Amino acid sequence: MQYLPIFASLSGQPCLVVGGGNVAERKVAQLLAAGARVTINAPQLSPGLKADVAAGRIDVALRPFDPALVPFQLLVIAATSDRTVNHAVAESERNALRLCNVVDDPEVSTYISPSIVDRSPLLVAISSGGQAPVLARLLRQQLESWLPARLGALAGWAGSWRERVKAKLPDLTDRRRLWEQVLTGALDARPGVAHDVLSGGRLATADAALSAALEAGEYRTTGPGEAWLVGAGPGDPELLTLRGLHLLQHADVVLYDRLVAPALLAYARRDAELIHVGKTGGGPSTAQTAINALLIARVRAGQRVCRLKGGDPYVFGRGSEEALALADAGLPFQVVPGITAASGCGAYAGIPLTHRKEAHAVTFVTAHLGSGQETDQETDQEPDWQSLAALGQTLVVYMTGRRVAEVSAALLQYGRPAATPAAVVMAGTTDAQRCVTGTLGDIAGQVSAAGVTSPAILYVGDVVALRARLNWFRPAAPGAAYNEQHSGAQR
Ligand SMILES: C[S@@+](CC[C@H](N)C(=O)[O-])C[C@H]1O[C@@H](n2cnc3c(N)ncnc32)[C@H](O)[C@@H]1O
Repeated sequence: MQYLPIFASLSGQPCLVVGGGNVAERKVAQLLAAGARVTINAPQLSPGLKADVAAGRIDVALRPFDPALVPFQLLVIAATSDRTVNHAVAESERNALRLCNVVDDPEVSTYISPSIVDRSPLLVAISSGGQAPVLARLLRQQLESWLPARLGALAGWAGSWRERVKAKLPDLTDRRRLWEQVLTGALDARPGVAHDVLSGGRLATADAALSAALEAGEYRTTGPGEAWLVGAGPGDPELLTLRGLHLLQHADVVLYDRLVAPALLAYARRDAELIHVGKTGGGPSTAQTAINALLIARVRAGQRVCRLKGGDPYVFGRGSEEALALADAGLPFQVVPGITAASGCGAYAGIPLTHRKEAHAVTFVTAHLGSGQETDQETDQEPDWQSLAALGQTLVVYMTGRRVAEVSAALLQYGRPAATPAAVVMAGTTDAQRCVTGTLGDIAGQVSAAGVTSPAILYVGDVVALRARLNWFRPAAPGAAYNEQHSGAQR
């Protein structure tokens, strides 16, 4: 090993940073985060460092590098843009037997700063020994997305139990076994105490489980699994949240809808069972009651079920019905929100939902199909077009499909002006995205001339006019057949 990795306790310890620019400012921020007493030594300071000095957060020696400061420091960082000065700092450090880091110059440094993944109190430090900093940074980014954000909370929670566990279990082997059982599952979202802590808001459950386990002298993780209702976003697979990704990666079973991007299924485990529960080829949807029953059966059997739903599970997605079915069955579940079609398609089509002058409110509605069949819709009530027309704000109509003409006619009938800007976004956020724009008076004709493809969403309101200036997204194959069935989804 070229370097020995150590985590230094700098709380209250004197540290010197030589240099007064932006790099020095970043180093000062790190040292302050570690609780160090920082002195900055430079003839001039950046505005940020001046603010630190003014606020009394750091001491200052406002002059060129002063070797006399060195013997009083635990460690020193040379962060000037002048190589000669940096080397002079390094030499005085070595003479004074202090640890010194010269930024971007491992040759003369006696210590180097690793890249850090901070889940305090848990820290992961990565170093390439100064050979490939970019590689270290890429690895850090991977770890950042892989490690749950609340891992630090889990470490803190375990710390809060250490003394009590020690008192109850004096034998080191017993304690190790207990902690292994408790913490296993932290990284693969397996139901249990660690998962409770990582999920947030379940500390009391975790405390009770650990307390009971200590009393009983054993620890069990058997029992039901858990359902995760995860919003997959409107189409672009990269719009999945990090939490959604974590859970998808660890599910035993994935139940997915037709609007879920096929590429997302590649994130599931190789051995996970993938079950399509959406509408196939224009046929009927899997009945909601059947989906609820499947969820319940799998969770009861101890499986971790990721219910991957297009957009957001709680926006016209019947997620609440599935959550209620699980709640009524007394089974554990979590809901991970997703980017709903209204905001996702709006963002990619250059249509903001609100705008300071044009629109102060936005309403989401679904166009009622009126077919009486089992559909994806949560409601079979026709929206109150009269009230919606009167609002005069942004209106987003989901499931417009072939009903743009009826919806616009209803809004016109109740007085929304024919000149109101309107747009239909099809297959939004995907490479096949298309957007047809017009006015409330002519949008139906425009859409039928263009040939509507599903899924499609209608925007009505002055914000639509902003698309002329805000349209940034260039889909690769606009209008290409949108893969509705996802039956060919490959891993
Ligand atoms: C059953 S709803 C599900 C809504 C979903 N839960 C959400 O939050 O976006 C399906 C409707 O959402 C809209 N939608 C979903 N994804 C879309 C997309 N990529 N482009 C356009 N509209 C979309 C369409 O109006 C579609 O008919």
